[in-house]
Amino acid sequence: MVQLRLPPNSRLQKGKAYPSSLPGPRLKTFQIYRYDPDTKENPRFDEYEINLDDCGPMVLDALIKIKNEVDPTLTFRRSCREGVCGSCAMNIAGTNTLACTKSISECNGDVKVAPLPHLYVIKDLVPDLSFAYGQYASVKPWLQSDSAPPPDKERLQSKEDREKLDGSWECILCFSCTTGCPSYWWNGDKYLGPATLLQSHRWIVDSRDDATSERLDELEDPFKLYRCHTIMNCTNTCPKGLNPAKAIGDIKKKMVERLDSKE
Ligand code: SF4
Ligand code: FES
Repeated sequence: MVQLRLPPNSRLQKGKAYPSSLPGPRLKTFQIYRYDPDTKENPRFDEYEINLDDCGPMVLDALIKIKNEVDPTLTFRRSCREGVCGSCAMNIAGTNTLACTKSISECNGDVKVAPLPHLYVIKDLVPDLSFAYGQYASVKPWLQSDSAPPPDKERLQSKEDREKLDGSWECILCFSCTTGCPSYWWNGDKYLGPATLLQSHRWIVDSRDDATSERLDELEDPFKLYRCHTIMNCTNTCPKGLNPAKAIGDIKKKMVERLDSKE
């Protein structure tokens, strides 16, 4: 809206705000976390002004534009550009999400972009996920079966058993949930976090897997599983609309059922 300077005989009202029809660039400021381990300087936020009429609609488009046209040293991860690889997860306007599926138009005011929180930063928007990947590997995220695979076909499941995997297989391991979880912030060295527990649940409920009991034994620990206090940040932030908190709740339920069946 603009205040107009009016000629004396104008029918527009003086002092009233009217929508601007004047052509002009739609500018948006991006405040981007910068950290370069080689300089040994403290991290800072750099500001970049982008013309939205000359930029794609997603936050990742703006980051790529900045890197290509303004500052080639800006460092971030991305690959698929369509929400399936998980590599562009970062904190945008205060929420962990995927830069490639986060629309700039959803961000009010300046857009603040930072790496996923509570992780060591390798450079700029690139966090160190090695520890989280190690935790993921610790739950043995692969099929463990006592029987040999059929020689001429896949291991089949009933439709009902296959449906039990819905809500897990869609996970792209972006770790937005894990790094948005306060319990993980405080106890991330021992608590496995929502992404890894969702994946553990995926194998616990797989009808083709024979290691359910061992998998539950591994999680029977004051920290690995039970540091989840149902805060729900994980479910609220998941950019794929998944519900890790429900999966964690189901693992806890299976622990209790197992105890009951032993009594
Ligand atoms: S559950 Fe959602 S937020 Fe967590 S790792 Fe999977 S896709 Fe990312
Ligand atoms: S680039 Fe693959 S999820 Fe964003």
